[in-house]
Formats: sequence, C-alpha cells, structure tokens
Amino acid sequence: MRIDIITVLPELLRSPFEASILKRAIEAGHIEVYLHNLRDYSDKPHKQVDDYQFGGGAGMVLMIEPIEKCIENLKSERIYDEVIFLTPDGERLQQKMANQLSMKQNIIMLCGHYKGVDQRVRDQFITKEISIGDYVLSGGELAAAVLSDAIIRLLPGVLNDETSALTDTFQDNLLAPPIYTRPANYKGWKVPEILRSGNLPAIEKWRDEQAYERTAKLRPDLLNEDH
Ligand code: ADE
Repeated sequence: MRIDIITVLPELLRSPFEASILKRAIEAGHIEVYLHNLRDYSDKPHKQVDDYQFGGGAGMVLMIEPIEKCIENLKSERIYDEVIFLTPDGERLQQKMANQLSMKQNIIMLCGHYKGVDQRVRDQFITKEISIGDYVLSGGELAAAVLSDAIIRLLPGVLNDETSALTDTFQDNLLAPPIYTRPANYKGWKVPEILRSGNLPAIEKWRDEQAYERTAKLRPDLLNEDH
C-alpha cells in the first residue's frame, strides 16, 4: 500500500512515521508514505499557495492550481483508489472506515489549512472527505497522521501478534475487555482470579462478558449501531 500526503507543513507530519510501529511498517515494506510540500507546486514568486476568499471574509483559502498540479503529477504515475480531504465537515472517521481503507492500494490525503480549500478542489478531485471528530484542528496534518496510523496498523504483518488488531476495541462494535500484567498483586490491588486460572474457555467467556458490560456502561450507543 502507498499513501501520498499533500500538505503545506510536511515537517508537522514527519515524526509520526519515524517512530515505533509506523516506522517499522515502512522499513519492512508493508507501506510507503510520501509527504508532498504543496509549495513545491506553486508558480508564485514567494511560493504562495493561498489567497483571499471571493466575496470577502476572514481567512485564507488554499488555491486550486498547486493542488491540481500535485494531484495530477501523482496520478500520472499510478492509479489512486481514493483522494481524501481531511476536513472537520467530512464523514466522521470510524473503525469500519479504517478497515475499508486498509484494503486499498494507493491513497492520496490532502490536508486542509487556513480557512479551507477552494470548493472546486473538493468538487473536481476529492473522492472522500473525512473528519477525525467534531472539533476544529489548525490543519488537516494531525488528522492525516491519525487516519494513516489507523489504517497502517491494520495491514497484514504490521502488528507482531496477528490477532491483536482483531481484538481491538470497536472491531466487534464492543470496547475491549480490561487487561492486566505482572505483578498479580500490587499493594493489595489484585488481578481477577479467572485470568490466572489457566482455564482458557472460561477466560474467553469472562472477556466477552466484560467487553459487553463495559460497552453497555461506557458506550451504549455502540450496541445499537449497525456496522
Ligand atoms: N482539519 C481541521 N479539523 C479537522 C478534523 N476535525 N478532522 C479532519 N481534518 C481537520
């Protein structure tokens, strides 16, 4: 899989891909991630990529021309499954969407900045608009990092324990059950006896019950959702 991220702030996006699981996923060849500085596609004297909005109003708007050049340049090299725009008014990111995107080959992510992008970019080039939540970030970069992380950890071979993405919170519309590690007794706070019993079917049953109970208590909305 390959992700191309178009941004005015590539430096903001570098570090998430240079540590831990994402770094290893890249090094092992499970994923290629490329950052493209939108300013490199500007013809303007000061590499300007934004301008005032027609009709007046505060806030600068990313111009269509450098974005088109960058996207067309990428599209001339390969076919893209999705061209995603990260924006607070997009469809809210959920696990199901990350699962679906993890099965694609090539994805472009465009990070919004300032007030947003010229609507014609959205109309002409964007196939999917995604928000990571109902709050406004100063740009789409952190959202692109979140989306990339959610996708990349699902790719085959990325997580050491092959089953671990399947048992994540949300994968069955349930929150994950509680987990514990050593010591079994810390200052009198004990690990549930069942987990130390070695009785695997009983442990499995306990985990299922805990997942359900936790979900009913903390996120009852998930139990009614159709995923
Ligand atoms: N850009 C600014 N805020 C955002 C959000 N909540 N999700 C995705 N992109 C954004």
